[in-house]
Amino acid sequence: MTVGQPLPRLDGPAKVTGRARYAADHGAPGLLHAVLVTAAIPAGRLTAIEARAALAERGVVRVLTHEDMPRFAKLPQGEALGDFDMEEDKPDGPPAAQSFMPMQDDEIRHEGQPVAIVLGETLEAAEAGARRVEVRCEQTEARLPVAPEWAALDDVAVEPRKSDFLFFGPGFTKADAGAALTNAETSIEAVYLQPSRHHNAMEPSAIVAEWDGDALTVHDATQHVYGVRHVLAARFGLPVEKVRVIAQHTGGGFGGKGWVWPHEVLAAAAARIVGRPVKLVLSRANLYSCLGYQPRMAQKVMLGADGEGHLTAVQHDVVNVTSVSDDFVEFATEASRSLYATPSMRLSHRVERANVAMPTPMRAPVDGPGTWALESAMDELAHRLGMDPLDLRLANYAEEDPATGEPWSSKKLREAYEEGARLFGWRERSRQTRRDGDWLIGQGMASCTMGCFRTPTPAAEVALRADGAAVVRTGTQDIGTGTLTIFPQIAADVLGLPPGRVTLEMGDTRLPEAGPTYGSSSTMGVGAAVLRAAEDARTKLARLANLPPGEVEMAEGRIRRRGASEGIAIAEAMREAGTDEIVGAGAFDPTQSGEGFSMRSFGAVFVEVGIDPELGLLRLRRVVGSYSVGRIVNPRTAKAQMTGGIIWGWGMAAMEQSQHEPVLGRFLSKNLAGVAIPVNADIPGDITIHFVDEVDEHASPIGGKGIGELPVTGVA
Ligand code: MOS
Repeated sequence: MTVGQPLPRLDGPAKVTGRARYAADHGAPGLLHAVLVTAAIPAGRLTAIEARAALAERGVVRVLTHEDMPRFAKLPQGEALGDFDMEEDKPDGPPAAQSFMPMQDDEIRHEGQPVAIVLGETLEAAEAGARRVEVRCEQTEARLPVAPEWAALDDVAVEPRKSDFLFFGPGFTKADAGAALTNAETSIEAVYLQPSRHHNAMEPSAIVAEWDGDALTVHDATQHVYGVRHVLAARFGLPVEKVRVIAQHTGGGFGGKGWVWPHEVLAAAAARIVGRPVKLVLSRANLYSCLGYQPRMAQKVMLGADGEGHLTAVQHDVVNVTSVSDDFVEFATEASRSLYATPSMRLSHRVERANVAMPTPMRAPVDGPGTWALESAMDELAHRLGMDPLDLRLANYAEEDPATGEPWSSKKLREAYEEGARLFGWRERSRQTRRDGDWLIGQGMASCTMGCFRTPTPAAEVALRADGAAVVRTGTQDIGTGTLTIFPQIAADVLGLPPGRVTLEMGDTRLPEAGPTYGSSSTMGVGAAVLRAAEDARTKLARLANLPPGEVEMAEGRIRRRGASEGIAIAEAMREAGTDEIVGAGAFDPTQSGEGFSMRSFGAVFVEVGIDPELGLLRLRRVVGSYSVGRIVNPRTAKAQMTGGIIWGWGMAAMEQSQHEPVLGRFLSKNLAGVAIPVNADIPGDITIHFVDEVDEHASPIGGKGIGELPVTGVA
């Protein structure tokens, strides 16, 4: 068995030697380089774009404006919420990150919006040209983000429109939380403000677009090749078969490359207009205006409890900033809806529309911000009640889904608390003020939880060859999380091969359709499709070998009856049937498993921090993360995911903030020099990752649930 083994990354050597090819590594004969010219005001109209000086630059071929652009098919912006019904209105999720398409007319909706594209024979020429384009505009009054305080936000917040951005219901109530709060023996009310934050993936978004007649091929930095295909086909009015999207490697996504942004459409349009391939690599600054971010948000949490610390009410109200074009909703109340047993709840979401760039999901969306507010309030409640924070959580342990009453598909959070507390020494910690030289030491814990996004319906093929090698083919993509290693592991186990004998083809819409690489969904979904495809290949081989498919196993290049010693060599079975390859197909349809169960992943995180009160320094000293996530396919890549998530959470807690500048609504800093994110020196070596022994038989045939974003939750 290789599932469960800490196999090193199969893609490691290609990545560290530079052989792995990312979108911008691709070229094409006659390729032009594109550079965006962006608006300098938050709202208004273009009055003129003067390109003469730019065109005089050597190597500049063309300056495109809205007047050159084709009119793209429009995507719906959403409608009045009305009676939103989760069952009826549940969207598939938008592959397009926003309905608004820039460069369609003279309108400017946010600072940094693309208004022109300069095409050059070289990148240097295009950059020089872009500096010489003169953009004249007429500014109109902009709606800018208000002061980050509850009263001001409460004043401007509006109900979100009904649109494909509503993954969850915009509100939820259970019994009468208002009355329960009034009557509570103890209650807490607190507001938690969180700045906008950016994904800051190492690889900037980039696309190379090339047309052959009315067929379009793009190499793109994306978390969803099929989503890019869908949006490009829709915008250009093409059948999807005419669009091929390739992404062999994506250099980090974190949600920023999950949906499809206007620059991808604009680059393809530019290539079509000039009849040459076009490469557009967003500048670091572009990433702060042409791509999304986790929105600035305010969360108000009210908890009511009885004298023993049992919750009687949970109220959680959220307002997040969004663009004037679309209502992106950060569903931070999902954690409050699911984490603790409570007889009453009132949860709500509203948005603050402003002339700013469009927000988008960012690792960990939903539960990252949500657990920060809820768990902070729980700590305040524990303090008020004089209870240990862990005991308060245990007192409110949800044996079933508190919103729906459904049983959990699996949940070993109690074990995660206990094993994490033991590894950390939580119960033995000193309650006195602790010092280490100049440092004051503090310890804290929180629950972790994340929704279970089972996206429909990833497919895969597994081709088994007579020489005992196999190829997994699936149209998913790798964003650096370890999927390139675990899919071969899964297939190798079924086929009894060493994982090194299994190669993987992915990141291409010519391969079987698979969903997005977000929502921590790949192992469950695509992994299950790979498992089924490998089983299908084994079944076909069993038939060739005249063995009963349900009773076979494969090992060392042979297929045999389970438990039998001899069996038949793969090559021999195929030779007798006159073939040298069999192809199995598999898919994972989430509607076919887990009906009637509520699914989430869980965990607990314990941290020790130090502060130097004289120098105002805050340092992370030690962390234990203990998780209940079902089966772990590869403990090494899983540990890397959890460690990275904890570091990401520390960035959220202590370092990251992208401030909306108050006059133009733009981000104050548009480069990594001005945005603090954790580096090695910020992170202690003492991070312990623990997984509770568990299999979730309902979530997916893999037995596991999503893990990649869970460890971000709770840390802040
Ligand atoms: Mo993550 S925001 O689901 O890529």
